[in-house]
Amino acid sequence: MNNVLPDTAREVAGRLTVGGVDLVDLAEEVGTPTIVLDRATFESRAKAFASVVDAGRVFYACKALCCVAVCEMADALGLSLDVCTGGELATALAAGVPPEKLLFHGNNKSEEELSVARDAGVARVVIDSFDEIDRLEKLRVDARFLVRVTPGVEAHTHEFIQTGQEDSKFGFTLAEDVALEALRRAAALSRGELAGVHAHIGSQIFEMAAYDLAVRRLAELLRKARDAFGFEAREVNLGGGLGIAYTEDELTPDPAESVARVADAVQREFTALDLKVPELLVEPGRSLIGSAGVTIYRVGTVKRIPGVRTYVSVDGGMSDNIRPALYGARYEAFLANRMGASEGPRVTVAGKHCESGDVLIRDVRLPEDVGPGDLLCVPATGGYTYSMASNYNRIPRPPVVLVEDGKATTIIERETSDDLLRLDRRLDGSAL
Ligand SMILES: Cc1ncc(COP(=O)(O)O)c(C=O)c1O
Repeated sequence: MNNVLPDTAREVAGRLTVGGVDLVDLAEEVGTPTIVLDRATFESRAKAFASVVDAGRVFYACKALCCVAVCEMADALGLSLDVCTGGELATALAAGVPPEKLLFHGNNKSEEELSVARDAGVARVVIDSFDEIDRLEKLRVDARFLVRVTPGVEAHTHEFIQTGQEDSKFGFTLAEDVALEALRRAAALSRGELAGVHAHIGSQIFEMAAYDLAVRRLAELLRKARDAFGFEAREVNLGGGLGIAYTEDELTPDPAESVARVADAVQREFTALDLKVPELLVEPGRSLIGSAGVTIYRVGTVKRIPGVRTYVSVDGGMSDNIRPALYGARYEAFLANRMGASEGPRVTVAGKHCESGDVLIRDVRLPEDVGPGDLLCVPATGGYTYSMASNYNRIPRPPVVLVEDGKATTIIERETSDDLLRLDRRLDGSAL
């Protein structure tokens, strides 16, 4: 189980502690469900990346979990930040992250979003379409530009294929020199500076050879750009995508080793094509924050269907973690109040939503007598859970609690029904 838990997770007298905080006590205090975030795990992953690439060139992809305190935490470690909407940008700015450390992504940035970024002085903008090049000219955006390329490599969990990625809403294809034309037009913008290229080849990547291939394709493109119009890239951004362990049979790759391998590929491929070696930027999200989080739920009901399966239902579900329903993502679970209790047959952990597909985990072993009141812990929920949360069935979103050295700090409060009702209006348009 240690491969999926935060670094500071310990079993103390049959109970789970994270960051020195007893999760059973925490659940009593703040209720459930609650997302618990271990600061030490986030920091150790950040330091691993920064041991290879200068911290300022590690852009935390805050889509994984975006809130003021997490942005502050990344900033305090010297990391930069990747934001991809006006909302993420506003959060980073509210956290006091200097605009020079921000990079703005998105396949459909609005004029309003680009204007806010321009006025705030956001340092880097990743260009995603020809329409956006026109928009940047019109709005006179003065930033460092990177052109997003789909290098024809699509990588997801343990395998990679070399064709599918062309069919993407993001970036410019290499086919028919479309990306080359984008570079030409971006280089001709009357303000700002074209700094280089960007590629993000997928998520939950364990197969590092996929990055080698992407780097080669980018180097080939840049060689063409140099020969055609003398452009030399100062920066190459290989996005995020590094995988983490969600289940007992997976191992989280070492971030330092992984990024070192990408840096070697950049050195090798650019040198081979007689190009100046650009600076490497990376945008990790999941691999920084995913393993730092666990979600604790309270078991409410257990339904045993003889000869079929047992449903263990908890007090959250697809509204706080959509990943199992959306992508068939797999998780582990165990009882935080009875660590080490012997495991019984496999059960299905379901949420409380009015939706049969609201299943968090299929076939996980829990103690045979699991029942109402038990505290279920689901690890590796730091990334892409809260940030993708909804209010389906009018369920308020859970809080996020940061733990460190025995101290628990709520960094996002639990939503309440009043919070949801605040935006409602009566039929006549009046407030409640
Ligand atoms: C452009 C870009 N950069 C970085 C990331 C972060 O990826 P991950 O969380 O897999 O590291 C994403 C995720 O979708 C992305 O689209």
